[in-house]
Amino acid sequence: MAQFTRFAGLSMLGLMLGSAALAQGYPERQITMVVPFSAGGPTDTVARLVAEKMSESLGQQIIVENVGGAGGTLGAGRVASAEADGYTVLLHHIGMATSATLYRSLAYDTLNAFDYVGLVTEVPMTLVARKDFEPADMAAFVSYVKENADSITLANAGIGAASHLCGMLFMQALDAPIVTVPYKGTGPAMTDLLGGQVDIMCDQTTNTSEQVRGGTIKAYAVTTPERLEIFPDLPTVAEAGLPGMEVAIWHGIYAPKGTPPEAIEKLSAALQAALADEGVAAKMADLGTAPSPAEDATPQALQAKLESEIDRWKPVIEAAGVYAD
Ligand code: MLT
Repeated sequence: MAQFTRFAGLSMLGLMLGSAALAQGYPERQITMVVPFSAGGPTDTVARLVAEKMSESLGQQIIVENVGGAGGTLGAGRVASAEADGYTVLLHHIGMATSATLYRSLAYDTLNAFDYVGLVTEVPMTLVARKDFEPADMAAFVSYVKENADSITLANAGIGAASHLCGMLFMQALDAPIVTVPYKGTGPAMTDLLGGQVDIMCDQTTNTSEQVRGGTIKAYAVTTPERLEIFPDLPTVAEAGLPGMEVAIWHGIYAPKGTPPEAIEKLSAALQAALADEGVAAKMADLGTAPSPAEDATPQALQAKLESEIDRWKPVIEAAGVYAD
């Protein structure tokens, strides 16, 4: 028995030293950051912005890989089942929390399949439409949608996407069952909105602000409690009489469960350095958002946020009775 105990102890020591050695040199090669939506969309924009800056402090390239589909759950599942070696991470948003209720048979256990790196940013949403959509302002937009729900198309990025959540809140607020058109991300959805193939969308300012400024789409309201500095003339949904539509899209970075703690620490430190960079903050401000504060760019803060948001959205989704499966 003593020999077995000695062997087990030496094996454990070997594992610990191996893991520590692995993490001490970490990162020794490029890291993949999975974005669970199409390239060119808001999540992709946030990911590429922070990945570029994190690469500088990590000394290794972080490459973004877009794995779209099923409202972000395909990409999340890809990371949940990846090697827990610190070389695959996930950048995802509020959909990580809503999908835990929307999908009753997810390929992963949301609260046990991931380790946490930290929060990244919290992005406002805008109610937008193709540029020739008739209503002139938010009041007219609400009336028009209520009266024509069955002949209007609303784009989203699939059940579990932020655009799906906002669209669901909008339909609930108006009691208007609008025809929805799902995409693998609001990047391609924006292309169809610009082309007039789809009528309206609720999407993040990281994807809409440039188009609104350019007049290539029409904006009606923002989903934040206060008006945005970049769009001072856009009313809030509360001003429009739709307070239940307030939602901001928080983003976090995750790693597969079991990732070496030293790797998590280095990733979180690199994230905090990226969010403290003036250039990153300026670019985010231009896109209508801001970096999460350093105390939120931590594993503990992201874990607390995910847990509280799952609890917050579960009753809302159950009341709507909308599920993906
Ligand atoms: C995207 O990056 O395409 C969006 O975040 C999709 C969504 O959540 O609406």
